[in-house]
Amino acid sequence: MSVTVFNPRINDAAGAKTTATAPAVIALTESSSAQSPVDKVAPKKVFVTTQGCQMNVYDSGKMLDVLGDSHGMEVTHNIDEADVLLMNTCSIREKAQEKVFSELGRWRKLKEKRPDLVIGVGGCVASQEGDNIQKRAPYVDMVFGPQTLHRLPELYDQSNEQRDIAPKNRIGTIDVSFPSIEKFDFLPEPRVEGYKAFVSIMEGCSKYCSFCVVPYTRGEELSRPLDDVLAEIDSLAAQGIREINLLGQNVNGYRGEKDDGSICRFAELLHYVSHVDGVERIRYTTSHPLEFTDDIIDAYAQLPELVSHLHLPVQSGSNAILAAMKRNHTIDVYINQINKLKAIRPDIHLSSDFIIGFPGETDQDFQDTLNLAKELNFDHSYSFIYSKRPGTPAAELPDDVSFTTKKARLAEFQKVIIDSTLAKTHEMVGTTTRVLVEQIANRHPDCLIGTADNTRTVMFPYDENKMNELLGKIVSVRITDFVSPHMVKGELIEVLA
Ligand code: SAH
Ligand code: F3S
Repeated sequence: MSVTVFNPRINDAAGAKTTATAPAVIALTESSSAQSPVDKVAPKKVFVTTQGCQMNVYDSGKMLDVLGDSHGMEVTHNIDEADVLLMNTCSIREKAQEKVFSELGRWRKLKEKRPDLVIGVGGCVASQEGDNIQKRAPYVDMVFGPQTLHRLPELYDQSNEQRDIAPKNRIGTIDVSFPSIEKFDFLPEPRVEGYKAFVSIMEGCSKYCSFCVVPYTRGEELSRPLDDVLAEIDSLAAQGIREINLLGQNVNGYRGEKDDGSICRFAELLHYVSHVDGVERIRYTTSHPLEFTDDIIDAYAQLPELVSHLHLPVQSGSNAILAAMKRNHTIDVYINQINKLKAIRPDIHLSSDFIIGFPGETDQDFQDTLNLAKELNFDHSYSFIYSKRPGTPAAELPDDVSFTTKKARLAEFQKVIIDSTLAKTHEMVGTTTRVLVEQIANRHPDCLIGTADNTRTVMFPYDENKMNELLGKIVSVRITDFVSPHMVKGELIEVLA
């Protein structure tokens, strides 16, 4: 894959944090700031569509932030009034990848009508395909990866300056490099809405599960330094955020550098975050069983801010399949971790990811997965049919399971998961649960709405004149009624924080 990069200094992976990099970016940012006469006349509008995981949701927010900060661009949710269209893509499964090109086909029609439209493709498909994106979709102006989204302002300027040249012949409009952790150094102060926020603590993944494309599209695991993470959380908390969701492909593999050069592991980070004034609730997504260590389990005894919900993907209930997936742990290890956690937090809610129909999955392997799901009684889970990803080791494995069998297994598996989701919600009735109050219910203006530890939406009536006082508070609610698989109703018991 050959990739055109506009500034070799900026693309210097080793020199990501060198002083040579910073002035180049700052200079460009200043020259195209919101103060320019063009922007004063009419701010450009940017539209972004996001596919895939929460990391992508976080990254899309940052794309809007950098273009707002550098070019005064405004966000629009109406594609017809947008000047810039951004697609943040996902390549985790083939279907997601194909969606990119069908959606781009629709955007091409828009650009035929409005040739000034600037189209950018970011995320994991961009990272994997690089300049191939423009071979299939020559009207795409900019291509950038998950680790270069902070360079969007320059890519945008370059594509504007070379407007008369066909996109594929332009220079400096593609950058899918992995410039270390530089991205975070160039993101503007986070802006927030509501009471919950994601904070990315690491990029990439080095686990190389045999089926997964992430290490190739997002690069190797790289942790943000501790102080950077805490500074972002301080800023969010000062703006009223009460719940922090620490993000990364394997957050429990976090190894952030401290000021003194020593390394902060994930459990220690949890302690630091819990001490930030204003942070009342901590979630994290996602962790890997391999590094779900005892110090993290102990944190559940010490930190009431940690929600009683753990998303710990297991992928399969069969040791043979886990080995073929290169997950590097057994089912016993997983069950043991869950049992230890349950001993500390009997009310812990669990969720997981599963891949059904991995190459070589026998009927017995599948039964083992079904049995694990029944035994652990997950609150909810994500399950997908295995999708062969080019370039991953599993793509070379002989796959003797027919697609019809895979589909039948998935349907059977999902029924078990849906049944336990439903049962878990019903079980909430009569219990008391912690809720972060987030908004006034649209269709029930006499009620407030929030989220419980186990991610269920909780609605409860409250005095209409005093509702604002409760927004952003952590309260305890006694659940009285089942509303839907993910929603319950209750009554306020007390305000906790
Ligand atoms: N880092 C996370 C997972 C990231 S990918 C972890 O360790 O769990 C999110 C989920 O997508 C995975 O947990 C897996 O269940 C699913 N997935 C990844 N690659 C896949 C593939 N090739 N086919 C089907 N599902 C896949
Ligand atoms: Fe993918 Fe495995 Fe990492 S699922 S994101 S390679 S932990």
